Amino acid sequence: PSTRVSVTVNGRQLTVTVDNRTSLLDLLREHLGLTGSKKGCNAGACGACTVLVDGRRVNGCLTLAVRLESAEVTTIEGVANGDRLHPLQQAFIDRDAFQCGYCTPGQIMSGLGCLREGHTGSAEEIREWMSGNLCRCGCYVKIVRAVEQAAR
Ligand code: FES
Repeated sequence: PSTRVSVTVNGRQLTVTVDNRTSLLDLLREHLGLTGSKKGCNAGACGACTVLVDGRRVNGCLTLAVRLESAEVTTIEGVANGDRLHPLQQAFIDRDAFQCGYCTPGQIMSGLGCLREGHTGSAEEIREWMSGNLCRCGCYVKIVRAVEQAAR
């Protein structure tokens, strides 16, 4: 069975008909062509699919698209302001906080969540609240520094 869902994605209001088993991540990547959010584990373990739903961090792979009626979704594609990078995106560049880049969209969305939730009081606090986002290249120290820079 499928369901019609009205959802706002990066400020654009959409109505889509999705199979009831479709994840938010697959809705974004397969139906809307927003491939910034990445599929790492597809099981809630890596954080590569992190997006904001009504301002809160969720794993796109664990969220059913049919649960999103009237929700506001923000993905990495909606973070910059036109040509102007968000300060956190700029901080990732300034701090060299990525290597292969696969986890970066999820790291940035998670970092944004930390900034909004006020979990940026110390490097340790950032590390703890970013612990659901894995980086196989091991850029953790620089990722924490980037979030610290954006929080200043
Ligand atoms: Fe969703 Fe890994 S792809 S947590």
